[in-house]
Amino acid sequence: MKPIRKAVFPVAGMGTRFLPATKAMPKEMLPIVDKPLIQYAVEEAIAAGITDLIFVTGRNKRAIEDHFDSAPELEAELAAKNKTQLLEIVRNVIPSYVNCIYTRQPAPLGLGHAVLCAAPIVGNEPFAVLLADDLIDAPTAATQQLVETAHQQNGSVLAIQNVQREHTSKYGIVSGDKVNGKTTLVKGIVEKPSPDQAPSTLAVVGRYVLEPEIFEHLRRTQAGVGGEIQLTDGIASLLQERSVFGHQYEGTRYDCGSKEGFFQATIELGRKYHGLQ
Ligand code: G1P
Repeated sequence: MKPIRKAVFPVAGMGTRFLPATKAMPKEMLPIVDKPLIQYAVEEAIAAGITDLIFVTGRNKRAIEDHFDSAPELEAELAAKNKTQLLEIVRNVIPSYVNCIYTRQPAPLGLGHAVLCAAPIVGNEPFAVLLADDLIDAPTAATQQLVETAHQQNGSVLAIQNVQREHTSKYGIVSGDKVNGKTTLVKGIVEKPSPDQAPSTLAVVGRYVLEPEIFEHLRRTQAGVGGEIQLTDGIASLLQERSVFGHQYEGTRYDCGSKEGFFQATIELGRKYHGLQ
């Protein structure tokens, strides 16, 4: 498999669960302690060797572009006041060798459609997808764990975790055969099945390493659950032709798309990394 250099961040979603906070601000800019959610995902991608960050944005998402750009007035002011530590933080939001590329999803047609919007930029190479809502605190970046598995197994890899059966309707759910302790060869995947229909309790969390063939499958994918073009349905089609694996990553995942997960991440990361009590 070719090296994985590009990552796609679908960030066009409305974030209605956090209104009114997200009325004028992207949900990906909500901070866990002092860092926006999107920056956690970007740092994870960079730790996995990604150099090209592709953001699929929508209306009201300018703050994300500004966040990853230089801020000359702010930098000048911090420099004039000798606030060198803060200046370093502002300047080092991303390393200089990393490229940020922005494209827009013109209408909210689903996660699969958002990923397809990145096709002309990704081209013919494998790439990662990170959903910033899922914050994963891990000793080795979760994306790095998927990248290693993709190279070992020579196929696409989805991050998976075991969930309680009553929660299957919140996730893509996979079924398949274990190839080793942590990795499963995926035979089937369905989007948000009800607990009684779910083929297993192995849920996909928001990290993917995908081969570029996914794009042809997404182009043929019809609207599914919720009337949206689902990435899960594209993957279900991809696995007829190519190997797709599920990998039970090591780490703690917080569902920061929900208030409960967001609150928990704030408390646990605040304690662990900021000494807050
Ligand atoms: C999306 C995917 C779903 C996946 C989930 C992980 O759903 O469609 O398959 O399990 O992300 O967070 P969403 O949470 O956007 O509804």
